[in-house]
Amino acid sequence: MPEVRRLPVHLRLRAMSAFRVPGEDHRAQVAEVMRVSLNLRPSFLEHQAPALPLDRFVCAFDGDRVIATAAERGYRQWFGGRELPMSGVWGVATLPEHRGSGLATGAVTRILREARARGVPVSALYPATLRPYRGLGYELAGTLARHEVRLDDLPRGGGGPLEVREYDASDLEGVRACYRRAMAGRTGPIDSDDPSWWPVRIMGRRTPDEPHRAVVALGPDGRVEGYALFVTEPIEGDLDGSFALMCRQLVATTVEAYAALLAFLRGFRGLGQAVRFPGPPAEPLAMLVEEQRVRPFWSFRWMLRLLDVPAALRGRGYLPLSGETILAVEDGLFPENRGPWRLAAEDGAVRVEPAEGARVRPVGVGTLAAMFSGYLSPFDAARLGLLEADAPAVPFLARLFAGPPPFMLDFF
Ligand SMILES: CC(C)(COP(=O)(O)OP(=O)(O)OC[C@H]1O[C@@H](n2cnc3c(N)ncnc32)[C@H](O)[C@@H]1OP(=O)(O)O)[C@@H](O)C(=O)NCCC(=O)NCCS
Repeated sequence: MPEVRRLPVHLRLRAMSAFRVPGEDHRAQVAEVMRVSLNLRPSFLEHQAPALPLDRFVCAFDGDRVIATAAERGYRQWFGGRELPMSGVWGVATLPEHRGSGLATGAVTRILREARARGVPVSALYPATLRPYRGLGYELAGTLARHEVRLDDLPRGGGGPLEVREYDASDLEGVRACYRRAMAGRTGPIDSDDPSWWPVRIMGRRTPDEPHRAVVALGPDGRVEGYALFVTEPIEGDLDGSFALMCRQLVATTVEAYAALLAFLRGFRGLGQAVRFPGPPAEPLAMLVEEQRVRPFWSFRWMLRLLDVPAALRGRGYLPLSGETILAVEDGLFPENRGPWRLAAEDGAVRVEPAEGARVRPVGVGTLAAMFSGYLSPFDAARLGLLEADAPAVPFLARLFAGPPPFMLDFF
């Protein structure tokens, strides 16, 4: 049994002199470190490696040899209905023979420092292992949940009045607008203007032979009211060739669009067995299906790091409530975050100001991130000893950060 973790985590910083942005002549080495460490298929070298955005990487070098990588993509992430710039960290990999000497920590630290200097208030990532990221001030803050429903259990009957047709590139702006309408007001979903995000990562084929389809459901005015992007995946069934429809996204803004898309997907019954799709843990589509047939299929937690605590607190959206508290923060990487801060809410407008001389027990910056997203209830944080149990901040922060469970649809 591992020891129970006593927070706050003390951040350990190491020398960073051998970290730099790789050049084109290091592309093959960057790709190879990722392939080996992340267990990527050899096709990665052929199809994805040529498009790796090297200018967004920080690598550790041993002489001229790349031995560790980390990368970043710029996103916006909704918190309480408002978007904050977010640095999405990915591609963190250290060659096995160089692990445990602080290389991943050093590369990600540099990414975080630069993001903060550019005014980005938060960073998020999907951790394969938590420890390196907890050490950097990240904490669990939301879920990527995938659900499954058998095609036979999808509602019978026609798709209703909406046309479902194959997606083409001219639909991209309509699809993005549909996504934004569906996600606005939530906590956790992301969007990006990076040229590789929507056209390639979301809508595109990742390898030339990927069995990829994309369809849109169009409203009477021709507006995209829903869409589905999916690949077929082999699945256990009576016959070889049985498959599931694995949706990268399945999004609808109206019940008519849901009906149309579900009827379209139901049409794959036969060798098609099930549809799998990402959504909030409390998936609304379950309201449209008889019985408890929308089941959890897979889930994975993402982590959040508050890079600029006052900017993040000022920037997110809140319910229209009023009150105030003093907050001090333990942050070994960015001492500017420590405060103490006076947090004052008036009808949901939040002011954050230095509270010189106030003395309160500091909360770990990771714990604050977990509460900030609404993932960790401040009452639970108090039960875990991460917040002072009888501090007046507990009920106030619980009201301030309350909301449906934070989620994302997209892995990065
Ligand atoms: C995860 C990974 C990038 C860490 O690289 P690294 O250079 O060894 O990391 P660091 O030396 O900076 O380690 C930082 C801390 O995390 C711990 N750590 C590193 N890898 C760990 C692992 N797999 N499991 C648990 N703890 C780990 C280290 O012991 C260290 O803890 P400490 O500060 O208490 O001493 C590396 O193990 C790797 O490439 N793994 C395979 C790919 C992967 O999982 N990538 C992450 C994708 S999100």
